Amino acid sequence: MRKLLTSGNLTHISSRSLFGLFGGSKIPEVTFTVFAEGQASQKHLVKAKEGANLMDTLNDSSIKDISVFGICDKQLACLSCRINISKSCYPKLAKITEDEQDVLDELGALLKPGQTRMSCQLKVSKEMEGCEIEIPRTAFGLYEKLTKDD
Ligand code: FES
Repeated sequence: MRKLLTSGNLTHISSRSLFGLFGGSKIPEVTFTVFAEGQASQKHLVKAKEGANLMDTLNDSSIKDISVFGICDKQLACLSCRINISKSCYPKLAKITEDEQDVLDELGALLKPGQTRMSCQLKVSKEMEGCEIEIPRTAFGLYEKLTKDD
């Protein structure tokens, strides 16, 4: 008879057994397109693991000059991680939290209704397959601008 695992007997399973339980599963990949604002003709394909943080994924990609996102480390305080996603993909994303909405409201004219999200608050999902993500101009060289006078 198969014994169910409970928190009481979980500690008796070795890490090797746990690897056997979870280590073999392959995380599906999602492919989407990224381009810089005003440069829609130069699209870059990005492959990402489902469940990965979108901001981390963009920063880890090898696309030149976009590794300036996330100055506040996902605390919804810097606005540097905003992205614009294609209108057809926007409704497929995870629901906006109240805290993220407050930040989006602060964007004013920079907000593209029905497109703008904070990438630090999003996880890569299979619904993002084939989506297009625009990196706003304000993200480029932001770190250099902020540290220039130091
Ligand atoms: S990393 Fe600062 S708001 Fe997303």
